[in-house]
Amino acid sequence: MPKEKQKHEQYNRFASVYDAMNADMHSKLMVEYCHRIFKKHGIRPEIGLDLCCGTGTAIDLLSQLGIKMSGLDGSSYMLAQAAKKLKGRKIKLYHKQLPNFKLLDTKSGEQCRFDLITCFYDSLNYLLTQRDLKRAFKSVHSHLKEGGWFVFDMNTLIALRTLWDGQVYAGEKEGIAWIWRNEYDAKKERAHVHATFFEEQRNGKWERFEEVHTERAYSNPLLKKLLREVGFAVKGYYRCYQFASVARDTYRICAVVQKR
Ligand SMILES: C[S@@+](CC[C@H](N)C(=O)[O-])C[C@H]1O[C@@H](n2cnc3c(N)ncnc32)[C@H](O)[C@@H]1O
Repeated sequence: MPKEKQKHEQYNRFASVYDAMNADMHSKLMVEYCHRIFKKHGIRPEIGLDLCCGTGTAIDLLSQLGIKMSGLDGSSYMLAQAAKKLKGRKIKLYHKQLPNFKLLDTKSGEQCRFDLITCFYDSLNYLLTQRDLKRAFKSVHSHLKEGGWFVFDMNTLIALRTLWDGQVYAGEKEGIAWIWRNEYDAKKERAHVHATFFEEQRNGKWERFEEVHTERAYSNPLLKKLLREVGFAVKGYYRCYQFASVARDTYRICAVVQKR
C-alpha cells in the first residue's frame, strides 16, 4: 500500500456521532445549492451517484429531487449509518475506495453509468497525491454517460493554511463533546485534524475516542488542468454556495464539470 494512502479507520466511531454533531449540515447546504446549479446549467439528472456519501444525507435529499441515487464510501461505519437512514428505499450503497473504483451493473455486468456524480465536503481533500486525485477524476469520468455532470466541492490551499493551522475547535451537544486540534505542515502540504470525542454511554459514563484526519488541497489552476486532462469541460468553478468567481481568499470551491 502506498505510504500516503489513508486507512478508513478515521470514519470509525466518528460515524455514529457525525449527524448528531451537525456535520451533515454541509450536505443539506450542498443539495440546496445543487438545485440552483441544476437550474443554472440546465442539468436534469435521472440517475446519480454520491461519492464519499458518508451518512447518506445528500443521497436522501437528492432522491427527494426525483434522482435515482446510489452511494459509495470507503468507511463501512459511515455506510452503516447511511443504510439506516435510507432503509427500505432500494438505494444501492457501495463499499469502495477512491481513487480507483469500478461499479458493475449486476444484471448486464456492464459498468454503471450515471447522469450525475457528486462528491461533497472535504472528501476529495483526503486524496493526498496529485496522482490519486487524477485517478479519482478518471474513475468518475468513466462512470458518467456522455454529457454527464460531476459536481464537487473542496477545501482550498488558503483554507488549510489559515483556517486549519494552529486552530482549535470545540463543541458540545447532548451526550457528546469534541475538541479538534488542527495543524498545517507546510513542507509536506498536509493538514491534520487531531479529533478527540467524548460520548456519553447508556450507563452515564463518558467514553473518549480519537481519530486523526489528514487532508491536502490543490491549487485552482491544477484542479482545472487535471479535470481537463481526463476529459471534462469545466462549466462552472465557483466560490462554494454562490455563483461568484473564486478569489484569493476563497476557502471552498465548487466545480461543475461535464464529460466531453
Ligand atoms: C467529510 S466526510 C463527507 C461525507 C459526506 N459527503 C458529507 O458531505 O457529509 C468524508 C467522507 O469521505 C469518505 N472517504 C474519505 N476518503 C475516501 C476514499 N479514499 N475512498 C472512499 N471514501 C473516502 C469518508 O469515509 C467519509 O465518509
